[in-house]
Amino acid sequence: MRLPFLFVTKGWKTFHRLQQNHFLSPVPRLWSTDVRCGSTQQCKEDKVYYVTTPIFYVNASPHLGHLYSAVIADCSHRYKRLQGFNSRFATGTDEHGLKIQQAAEAAGKDPLTFCTDVSERFKHLFGSCNISHTDYIRTTEKRHRQAVEHFWTVLWNKGLIYKGSYEGFYSTQDESFLMPSQVGDALDSSGKEIKISLESGHKVEWMKEENYMFRLSAFRSQLLDWLKANPGAIQPERFHQAVLRWLQEDLPDLSVSRQRSRLQWGIPVPGDAEQTIYVWLDALVNYLTVAGYPDRHDQWWHAVHHIIGKDILKFHAIYWPAFLLGAGLPLPEVIHVHSHWTVGGKKMSKSLGNVIDPFEHSQMFTTDGMRYFLLRQGVPDSDCDYTENKVVKLLNAELADSLGGLLNRCTAPALNPAQVYPSFCSQFFPSELGGKAVMEDYHMLDAVKSLPAVVEKHYESMHVYKALEAITACIRQTNGFVQRHTPWKLDRRDDEDQRWLDTIICVSLECLRIYGTLLQPVVPEISNKLLTRLGVRPEERSWEALDFLPRFRGMDCPFEGRALGSDSGVLLSRLGSQNVDKEKTKKTKSVHSK
Ligand code: ME8
Ligand code: MG
Repeated sequence: MRLPFLFVTKGWKTFHRLQQNHFLSPVPRLWSTDVRCGSTQQCKEDKVYYVTTPIFYVNASPHLGHLYSAVIADCSHRYKRLQGFNSRFATGTDEHGLKIQQAAEAAGKDPLTFCTDVSERFKHLFGSCNISHTDYIRTTEKRHRQAVEHFWTVLWNKGLIYKGSYEGFYSTQDESFLMPSQVGDALDSSGKEIKISLESGHKVEWMKEENYMFRLSAFRSQLLDWLKANPGAIQPERFHQAVLRWLQEDLPDLSVSRQRSRLQWGIPVPGDAEQTIYVWLDALVNYLTVAGYPDRHDQWWHAVHHIIGKDILKFHAIYWPAFLLGAGLPLPEVIHVHSHWTVGGKKMSKSLGNVIDPFEHSQMFTTDGMRYFLLRQGVPDSDCDYTENKVVKLLNAELADSLGGLLNRCTAPALNPAQVYPSFCSQFFPSELGGKAVMEDYHMLDAVKSLPAVVEKHYESMHVYKALEAITACIRQTNGFVQRHTPWKLDRRDDEDQRWLDTIICVSLECLRIYGTLLQPVVPEISNKLLTRLGVRPEERSWEALDFLPRFRGMDCPFEGRALGSDSGVLLSRLGSQNVDKEKTKKTKSVHSK
């Protein structure tokens, strides 16, 4: 009787797609959820979104690279909320494993105290940078341990884990097993010959021990099918291709536990206290734990989007989907991969010691300034070098001068003594050429009108820099519009001039309202200042409210005649030479200390 409901839910679609591709045998859990959703309430599954960042290792303090992933996820979460989605956003810390065990030992602290200290630093950073996560997970929490134990037991019961012995290379820094072809020779700082991972450059060691193995090899063709049937599963495309290439190679079974004698800091294998679960299996399950696994995850799970750095692609695009297939769970909707921030051409990383302190830099450039820079300059496809000079130049040009300047000009008491949102007069800006507006002005209107769709497309694909590029181009056009018509030269005592002046200002404020609304996911504080200054109420800031210049189409504009907000506050103060000087002093210092 309840079956028809299944056909209208997204969960069903996911299930159907997976079934078609032979990824799953029918899983009762999905059916029962869909029935529950369809039978009791208006099903809102299409409006559910769940975005995650990697959970970060607590072996050292957060750096700018971690903030970058969090800012991308935050932008996406805020954007989905503006679109009316029920969105969930999880981040947190990865606290088990040999690397953390060794870091705690080196710090002379008991592991949990050590983890708590560093995890708090991540939380504090995210709080201070307006990261609006709904969930913060630590893998040392009880709920997570239960989820991992359950997940392990499911794989075990399905015969996908067996006792075996592993012999091969291991990198503790990456917590990763490597094939001989992935290993190269190098010299350590004392000139000793060592083996390193060719990908990360981290030291590897030979290990041989009895442990549990996961039948990864059995999933190769299903993984290939998944990627072929879902070309957007891993974005950008080049990473999708990279995973397809890896899957052409050998895919041996994966060791998923370590002997307890070597690794105590982790979750014991259920039923075998002599073994500890491999930290990556433990860590990946965090995404399910947050969603409510094993009992309540369905609502969120079918809408999961992972954001990760390219360094952990293999774990998310091969191991994780294979574990999920094994456990009979749907695969992530999309894995969004981003490239790395480098400093002086080298990946910013704790082990290289070239990290940028995100606290210090967001204080220097403001939180929104930092967020804007990371999202405007960070390109998912390729690495990007971080320098303070670039930050100063970009923020001054785009936020302080272009956007801030436009707002100041158009709200200046000299042009708008009444401090209201002025009225549009179609006599001067008719729907066809013939008033005072010129061809370029019509082009500008077209550009701003289509901007929300352009921005939407780029926000969806996490190409935020392209969205910001498009917004910046429009801001430039609006500045050009104001410049072209020099409203400050008009005579306010002349009725015609006054109405044309009002029209110019009204069009500009309408443009600014669109920019402010679209920028909210990237720079929430600046957008809030801007929209408040324009008199736009909180409930008028959603995607639905992006109705640009309705008066041009003969419709009412709710903002006309409304008082502007009283705070004429500057959106972003121009950054001065003190920032650059600071960089120079720092560079000199580091040269001296070498
Ligand atoms: O790998 N540029 O944690 P991790 C951009 N615990 N992003 C960077 C970056 C850089 N230079 N450096 C790091 C782990 N990141 C595991 C993850 S998930 C189940 C477990 C970001 O502390 C980027 O997202 O080494 C990268 O993937 C992540 O931090 C690695 O953080
Ligand atoms: Mg790392």
